[in-house]
Amino acid sequence: MVIFSSVGGTTRKVAQRVAGRVGDELLLSAREAMSLPLSRRVERVLLFCPTYGDEELEENFEDLLLRYDWAALEGAGFAFCELGIYTGYENFGHGLERIVCRTLIDHGLHQLVPSLSVDAVPITDWVMVDAWSDLILSRQTVS
Ligand SMILES: Cc1cc2nc3c(=O)[nH]c(=O)nc-3n(C[C@H](O)[C@H](O)[C@H](O)COP(=O)(O)O)c2cc1C
Repeated sequence: MVIFSSVGGTTRKVAQRVAGRVGDELLLSAREAMSLPLSRRVERVLLFCPTYGDEELEENFEDLLLRYDWAALEGAGFAFCELGIYTGYENFGHGLERIVCRTLIDHGLHQLVPSLSVDAVPITDWVMVDAWSDLILSRQTVS
């Protein structure tokens, strides 16, 4: 299962690309995920969120993180990808992954691969995205 939030569409494209490469067919926006009860067992969830504000989650994703029934995914693997801009910041990371990974681990999910921070401005680093997809594929083969 793949869940993303996106305002301008870039994160949706990244999520679609990774979903296609790793073979996960269920692709949901954060809002859709909130309103759709899980009808089957999920072994893996891949999450994508853009940075809006200094180390701030996009608001639909924040809602998902705080209110989703993560307990229903206890035991599942997860991977997280944050999008943002490197220019003007000291770190090659956007600051979202700490809160996201901590929350999911606290709910009993386990991290499959290190989080990915993608520089998406002015263009998306697709090489990085594809390498991360391949890393996910190499770790687990469940869809
Ligand atoms: C109004 C606005 C504020 C942003 N604030 C940040 C920020 O504080 N830090 C950061 O790393 N990226 C920031 N970005 C960059 C976005 O995270 C990046 O453009 C991302 O690809 C947007 O994803 P989306 O098109 O899926 O909404 C901002 C972009 C916009 C338009």
